[in-house]
Amino acid sequence: MFKKTSLRRKLKGLSIKLFCKRKKITITDTPSFSGAWPYISNKGVIRLGGQCSFRSFRLHQTITVQAEATLEIGEGSFFNDGVNICASQSIKIGRNAKIGDMTYVFDTDFHQLSPDRDVKKASVVIGNNVWVGANSMILAGSSIGDNSVIAAGSIVVGEIPPNCLAAGTPAKVIKSLNIPDGWLRQ
Ligand SMILES: CC(C)(COP(=O)(O)OP(=O)(O)OC[C@H]1O[C@@H](n2cnc3c(N)ncnc32)[C@H](O)[C@@H]1OP(=O)(O)O)[C@@H](O)C(=O)NCCC(=O)NCCS
Repeated sequence: MFKKTSLRRKLKGLSIKLFCKRKKITITDTPSFSGAWPYISNKGVIRLGGQCSFRSFRLHQTITVQAEATLEIGEGSFFNDGVNICASQSIKIGRNAKIGDMTYVFDTDFHQLSPDRDVKKASVVIGNNVWVGANSMILAGSSIGDNSVIAAGSIVVGEIPPNCLAAGTPAKVIKSLNIPDGWLRQ
């Protein structure tokens, strides 16, 4: 019984490694996929730190990296059901980030606002130990500082400093958080 389970685990690990290789994802070690595996379209560069996990029991996760774009994800980051990431330039997600269900992270608006405007494309940075609550949107040009929390259902457009709780549309700082150096959210 034990042997069967460990063999199954090894085979799953091997399949995930092959999947990453096929999708041209640079990995430090094998990520964990629980439930359905993410849909990934990679025409650019994806770098994944060690011990990242993707959990998808109800809704698929979708990761799109366009040509010449980069998606970097730091070690220990976690992605919940239905997360949708699209990089047209650069999206950096730090270490030990937690990205809640149905959250969208886009560094492009995809469409022009009006004929005189180009499509907005601007890098997105999500810091280390950041927790993004469910149903949030992190839009082009946003940055979220280390340790901060984005409350559920918020829309981030612009800069959220480190060590704070931000909420709403557009997300605004509600309070600062006292977070000791090296503390990681569970
Ligand atoms: C932000 C959160 C963590 C609560 O933190 P808290 O420190 O206990 O905050 P409080 O409930 O005391 O609320 C503080 C203020 O933020 C407001 N607030 C809390 N959550 C909010 C939200 N999602 N959107 C807008 N405002 C929110 C409260 O109304 C309150 O405002 P007030 O001071 O004017 O009364 C929680 O509301 C939340 O969003 N959790 C996310 C859960 C989730 O998505 N998990 C996904 C699994 S990965």
